[in-house]
Amino acid sequence: MTEIIDGNDVAQDIRNGLLDGIETLTDAGTTPCLATVLMNDDPASETYVSMKHKDCEEVGIATRDIELDPETPAEELFDTIDELNADPEVHGILVQMPLPDHVDEREVLRSIDPAKDVDGFHPENVGRLVAGNARYKPCTPHGVQKLLAAADVETEGAEAVVVGRSNIVGKPMANLLIQKDEGGNATTTVCHSRTEDLAEKTRAADIVIAAAGVPEMITGEMLSEGTVVIDVGINRVETDEGSELVGDVDYDSAKEKASAITPVPGGVGPMTRAMLLWNTVKSASDVAE
Ligand code: GUN
Repeated sequence: MTEIIDGNDVAQDIRNGLLDGIETLTDAGTTPCLATVLMNDDPASETYVSMKHKDCEEVGIATRDIELDPETPAEELFDTIDELNADPEVHGILVQMPLPDHVDEREVLRSIDPAKDVDGFHPENVGRLVAGNARYKPCTPHGVQKLLAAADVETEGAEAVVVGRSNIVGKPMANLLIQKDEGGNATTTVCHSRTEDLAEKTRAADIVIAAAGVPEMITGEMLSEGTVVIDVGINRVETDEGSELVGDVDYDSAKEKASAITPVPGGVGPMTRAMLLWNTVKSASDVAE
């Protein structure tokens, strides 16, 4: 029987686990607070940001909701970030990507106070992660680690294959998998669009983490019996009936081979959001210490 790893359940456990800490912090006068900055009109981004606010509300994390017109000059965005950096009541700052073309994304990430960078994308935080001294683990790979732990998947000594090399998922995921920590110690291969024989790599894997952004590219044929399959992809594809969300994994064929698999939606997505709450609470705790 293939285990379907339910991200909604695991995310709920994570949120429940944060409640006591949030209450203690709030009682002591430090209500954790997440500020989001949205500067694009993409409906998907708007939905993601509003879901993050809803999650915060549910667990007692305060929020600031800043929306800037995509035409806004970059200086105004930097001023907004400076104000949030200086505001002692704000513990986490999330600037929703993508940003308009006239804004330099790297410069934006560098301008966020690393102590409030709950995405974990600031170069200082990337460096700390790589050095094995993470301040904030990036939310999606951290969520994948929690999903694997919840499904009792041992990473130590496992052959893990990460498909995708993005700064948001693939690279930090591989870094977490090779750390000498719980959820690490995996022999890790990173595959990407220039990988010569992807199926050869994925067939040799105990754990496949698909994060390439290509709909249903990992099929059952590319997997060995008993592989654990984590699908990070969220792709909207057109169908005869309209459109639907699919992952980077061809779920039906992969499920035939996998010992455990995450669905899309309801797998990694809810975990990313839960780990954002986690990082926001961590930031508030660090301040309160
Ligand atoms: N856009 C898509 N995913 C993310 C994310 O994890 N963080 C931010 N800030 N923007 C995103």
